[in-house]
Amino acid sequence: MLTGDQLNVNLPRLYSDLAWVWPLWEELDQYRPDADFYTELIRKYARGQVNTLLDLGCGGGKADYHLKENFKITGVDISLAMLENARRLNGDCEYMLGDMRSVRLERVFDAVLVNDAVSYMTDKVQLGQVFATARRHLRRGGVMIVGADHTKESFIQNEITVSKGGGDGVEITFIENLYDANPADTICELLLIFIIRQSGKLRVEKDLHTLGLFEEPVWTEQIQNAGFKPRRHLFITEEAGAKREYTFFACVRD
Ligand SMILES: C[S@@+](CC[C@H](N)C(=O)[O-])C[C@H]1O[C@@H](n2cnc3c(N)ncnc32)[C@H](O)[C@@H]1O
Repeated sequence: MLTGDQLNVNLPRLYSDLAWVWPLWEELDQYRPDADFYTELIRKYARGQVNTLLDLGCGGGKADYHLKENFKITGVDISLAMLENARRLNGDCEYMLGDMRSVRLERVFDAVLVNDAVSYMTDKVQLGQVFATARRHLRRGGVMIVGADHTKESFIQNEITVSKGGGDGVEITFIENLYDANPADTICELLLIFIIRQSGKLRVEKDLHTLGLFEEPVWTEQIQNAGFKPRRHLFITEEAGAKREYTFFACVRD
């Protein structure tokens, strides 16, 4: 399997030289409601017992930290640095390098989670590749859970979110800005600014991510093309005092 670097993919700084800030960002507790929601959907739709879960684009393993209470986790990610974070957090889970568009582990799982990492698919061909990967790794009666972090329908132009984190003598303010420069294409920008204060020194770092942005029917079309019947669910949560709704799809492998 190849890493982002070996594939000559330019990883965002958050997943390369700034990956050390990931554990200092959102508290693990913040991932609990999300993990409970995925677990509930998997249990609702899966046929037969569910023991194993493949997390495609597992990042630093914060969701896995909660999911491992109910499932035996295997995580795949394209960033070596994020996998190191995940391994440090969840020494009892299995983590492997790979690209969620093309990885082939040659084994099947009871459930596959396709969550925030799928935001990095910038055209519908790549979206389809991810769903085909998920299908290839599911047993019959197993469930794929897909989270669409952003859709054209729910997108808030120029949205700014500010949060704080830190630990071990470091204080970090995280500023996120989402912007769709051209509504006619399928991408948007996520600009991250990190204000880092450490040992009396101030550093400001900038990290620009390119994300995919599709209408909901494009998500359902690509899921259907991969051979699934998507069931739509809304995950409603509160972030920084504001109510947010995220679209999820539960998809059983027939
Ligand atoms: C926001 S992080 C995921 C965080 C994760 N849900 C957690 O609980 O810690 C997004 C991840 O997507 C990964 N990613 C982006 N493109 C990918 C690809 N093509 N294949 C695998 N992972 C990818 C990045 O390396 C990054 O670790």
